Amino acid sequence: MKGISVGIRGVGSYVPERRLTNQDLERMVDTNDEWIVTRTGIRERRIAAPDEATSDLALKASVRALEAAGLAADELDLIVVATITPDMFFPSTACLLQDRLGARKAAAYDLSAACSGFIYALANAAGLIASGMYRNALVVGAECLSRITDYSDRNTCILFGDGAGAVVLGPVPEGRGFRSFVLGADGSGGDLLKVAGGGSRLPPTADTVAQRRHFIEMNGREVFKFAVRVMGNAAEEALEKAGLGKADVDLLIPHQANIRIIQSALERLGLPQEKCVVNLDRYGNVSAASIPLALAEAVEDGRVREGDRLLMVGFGGGLTWGASVLVW
Ligand code: UT7
Repeated sequence: MKGISVGIRGVGSYVPERRLTNQDLERMVDTNDEWIVTRTGIRERRIAAPDEATSDLALKASVRALEAAGLAADELDLIVVATITPDMFFPSTACLLQDRLGARKAAAYDLSAACSGFIYALANAAGLIASGMYRNALVVGAECLSRITDYSDRNTCILFGDGAGAVVLGPVPEGRGFRSFVLGADGSGGDLLKVAGGGSRLPPTADTVAQRRHFIEMNGREVFKFAVRVMGNAAEEALEKAGLGKADVDLLIPHQANIRIIQSALERLGLPQEKCVVNLDRYGNVSAASIPLALAEAVEDGRVREGDRLLMVGFGGGLTWGASVLVW
C-alpha cells in the first residue's frame, strides 16, 4: 500500500450470552450433532437477546477496541460498520454507534459486502487514512444473523450466529501495518446467497412474510465450491501483492463458514493447523463479524506478536471476496 503506513491499534469483540447448541437444533429441525460437526465443524452459536440489536453488539466491541487502542471516541474521524443485519434500513448502524460512543467528529456509514464486509471496510478505512484524509478510524463487523435465519430450514439454520468485532485503525511505524488488499465481486452469483424480501424489489407484504422471503436463502453446494476456489486465489494474490510467500504467513485468519472450507485453504497454502485461527465451533458463521472476532480472540490469547505476518481472507454473498496481509 502506498502513502502513510496504516495498521490496527486496538481490537475488541463481544458475543451475546445465549448459546444455541447442536442439541438445541436437533429439537427444532431434522438434523443431528454428528452431521453438523462433520459437515461444518460448528457446535454452538451465540444468539442476541430479544432486546439486543446489531448496534448494541457493535457498541460493546467498539468500547473494548477503543480502550485497547488508548483512544477516546471523540478522537475518531471515521466509523465504518460492515453488516448485512443493520438495526434498521436507515439511519445506518454506524450513525447509531457514532451517537452512542459520543464520536462527535466522526463521519459514519455502513458497508454491505456480506461475509467479506470486514475486509472491504478495512480497505476502505485504511485507504482514507493512507491518503492523509483521516487519522483514526473505527472499523466494525457486527451481525444479528439470527434475525434473518429461518429456523425451519435445516440447510441454513445450523450455520449462523450473532456477534461483533471491532478494530481501531491509525498510523503505525513504517514496516508495520497493512501490506496489501484484494477485493473482488461476481454479481452473477448473487442468487446463490440472499435475502430477497424487504427491499425495493420485493417490499414487505403479508405474502412475503408467509413465503419466508425475509430469511437467508442459500445454495450451499454452489457457495461451497465458490468459497474453496476464491479463498485460495484471494489469499495467494494478497501474498503476492505484499511481496511475501506462503511460508511467510505466521497466522491465517479466515472467514469462519465451514471447517472443510478452512481446511482446503490451509492445504492450498501449505500451512499447518496451528497457524490458523478457528472459532466457528463456538460461534458458527457470524458473517462480517467472523474475521474481527477471530482476530480479537487471537490477540487476547497472545497468539499475535509484534512483527507477525497475518493473512485475513473471506468470501460471501454478492458474491464477494477479500483478503489482506498485515504486519502486526
Ligand atoms: O458465509 C457464506 C455462507 N455460506 C456458506 O459458507 C455455505 C457453504 N456451504 C456449506 O457449508 C455446505 O454446503 C453446507 C454445510 C451448507 C451443506 O453441506 P454439504 O456437504 O454441501 O451438504 P449437501 O447440501 O450436499 O447435503 C447433503 C445431504 C442432503 O441430503 P440428500 O439430498 O443427500 O439426501 C441434505 O438434505 O445432507 C442433507 N442435509 C442435512 N442433514 C442433516 C442438509 N442439511 C442438513 C442438516 N442435517 N442440517
